[in-house]
Amino acid sequence: MSGYDDAYAEWRRDPLGWWMEAARGIAWTRFPGTAFDPGQGPFGRWFPDGRLNTCHNALDRHVEAGRGDAVALIWDSPMTGQVQRFTYAEMLERTAKLAGALAARGVSRGDRVILYMPMVPEAAIAMLACARLGAIHSVVFGGFAAAELAARIEDATPKAVIAASCGLEPGRVVAYKPLLDAAIGLSPHKPEFCVILQREQARAEMVEGRDFDFAAEEASGQPHAPVEVAATDPLYILYTSGTTGKPKGIVRDNGGHAVALHRSISMIYGLKPGDVFWTASDVGWVVGHSYIVYAPLLAGVTSVMFEGKPVGTPDAGTFWRVCADHGVKLLFTAPTALRAIKKEDPEGAMMKRHDLSRLEALFLAGERCDPPTAIWAAEKLGVPVVDHWWQTETGWPITAGFREYGLFAPRPGSGGRPSPGYDVAALDVQGNEVPRGQQGALALRLPLPPGCAPTLWNAEERYRQAYLSTFPHFYDTSDAGTVDEEGFVWVMGRTDDIINVAGHRLSTGQMEEVLASHPDVAECAVVGAADALKGQAPLGLVVLKAGVQREEAEVARELVALVRERIGPVAAFKEARVVPRLPKTRSGKILRATIRKIADREDYVVPPTIDDPVILDEISEALSR
Ligand code: COA
Ligand code: AMP
Repeated sequence: MSGYDDAYAEWRRDPLGWWMEAARGIAWTRFPGTAFDPGQGPFGRWFPDGRLNTCHNALDRHVEAGRGDAVALIWDSPMTGQVQRFTYAEMLERTAKLAGALAARGVSRGDRVILYMPMVPEAAIAMLACARLGAIHSVVFGGFAAAELAARIEDATPKAVIAASCGLEPGRVVAYKPLLDAAIGLSPHKPEFCVILQREQARAEMVEGRDFDFAAEEASGQPHAPVEVAATDPLYILYTSGTTGKPKGIVRDNGGHAVALHRSISMIYGLKPGDVFWTASDVGWVVGHSYIVYAPLLAGVTSVMFEGKPVGTPDAGTFWRVCADHGVKLLFTAPTALRAIKKEDPEGAMMKRHDLSRLEALFLAGERCDPPTAIWAAEKLGVPVVDHWWQTETGWPITAGFREYGLFAPRPGSGGRPSPGYDVAALDVQGNEVPRGQQGALALRLPLPPGCAPTLWNAEERYRQAYLSTFPHFYDTSDAGTVDEEGFVWVMGRTDDIINVAGHRLSTGQMEEVLASHPDVAECAVVGAADALKGQAPLGLVVLKAGVQREEAEVARELVALVRERIGPVAAFKEARVVPRLPKTRSGKILRATIRKIADREDYVVPPTIDDPVILDEISEALSR
């Protein structure tokens, strides 16, 4: 038996004991007497009587153990040409002072604080300051528009918003403050105050009496001690796309999260205190929450925070320069970033210019890594490339390779085997397991392990409906794929209307709502068409209202602008086509899967339920224009 088999079998034999043992990796103010209470929440709650503070575990604990001078965070920003290092002691001091300033303005345990920040150290400091107070942060990705930010302010009803004056994208400065002001204007709920980090690239206009300067607040803040919270108290809410326009507020608790993330750092990534871990993602996504901020700091690892892009800042060698400069031991990024690099530097010439001798492995997630990209990266880097599968809801990998147990031989295209804690099955529509190797709906047998979302913010019933109602005793991941004879999981795509664009999770339903609001649009469909760089790209088909006679290009321009204005640039919605009709079943359901196949020039069978097959030719014709 391999190390992995033993470990997985050990978890299976005694799941609660396994997690209680993992809980010893965390400093509790009250060690949990009970591992799991199946009676609470939609599927149960982990460590129901434990008490702790997550920020204490991420910062104070290491300083108290004499590691105050160890580097906690390296900020590398090719966008500004700056590199800064922060020790654990420095992070603690800054975080405690900001927490003190927030507390002085009334933020306390259970209050929500929205963060609208780019990739700057203050984003991590603000997250940790909230955690220190037992306040619940909700980070909103900078690429979302004012309306999306407003929807999150309305749902989370924050006491405060912490934002930066701007974010930096190649070739443009994104002024965040006007977006924040617009969002506050749109939302029926108004935060009591805002704390604004002034960046010199675009200083923000402040609203007298409502907006306060981040630096001044931090400077005057009295260091605040960590506030003890229940393990089951929410640490954060992270909104993610659902199938409707209303995003889901994924809740993460304090105790289970700390235990699972801490355990994952050694088990999956094979890192120990002092090692350098670089997750090239964004704090606005779950990958950034878990592996730029919380997990590395909980484990005393050095985390690299990067403000830049894989290409163009300044070139396709940036990733390798960062790895070499900071002695990165493990890099975690999205396959789309590698595809971007590979396109510009297929031979890896820029890679060879840097000393990558300390890099031990590359981990990938956010979307399935296509085998050619995985093979290219393994060949050029000469280190293991590990694809691992997870979701915002789970907060840490469902399947992976495990450095602690010895990595599996490469199987490009597979997401690895289940992490101890997860029991993955491929199910048929009746909820029965399909034979090994056959495709089914990927589901996780309940209970979910610690770290997974226990509920949705203010929407427990939606949680049950969205995840637990499809298959009794299972959480439905909304991904489809296979589990093979050896237990490797192969994730092939979503079963719902979610698409994955450059590793970003987007709802086609939400984009359809926006297109349908255009005055000339009678009906519409959005599908994720294959894209060589981003994996998928949204494609909109619209039918114009009777009597509307307009240039297709003009309507398309308006639709593209509308999606950018309502959802934001992150939607990457660049293409809309006018079609005479949409293909539907006789019962009126739009045949999106068939549209996608036509867009991707794949073979398709004419669905027997289609009301008029000629429409498919019309779509082909429109898409080849
Ligand atoms: N704030 C404001 N705008 C943002 C933003 C942010 N934080 N992040 C992205 N955007 C904008 C981009 O500028 C782009 O705008 P444009 O339409 O004017 O060009 C748009 O949103 C789409 O962004 P994205 O799809 O990420 O494309 P990109 O051009 O920024 O980068 C690659 C594309 C090819 C470099 C891509 O490979 C990449 O690395 N993406 C990020 C992958 C990632 O980190 N995923 C997280 C999951 S692990
Ligand atoms: P998000 O919640 O934004 O992290 O997106 C989660 C979704 O991204 C999953 O449900 C999958 O559809 C997809 N995904 C993430 N990582 C992988 C992976 N390694 N392999 C296949 N799909 C992935």
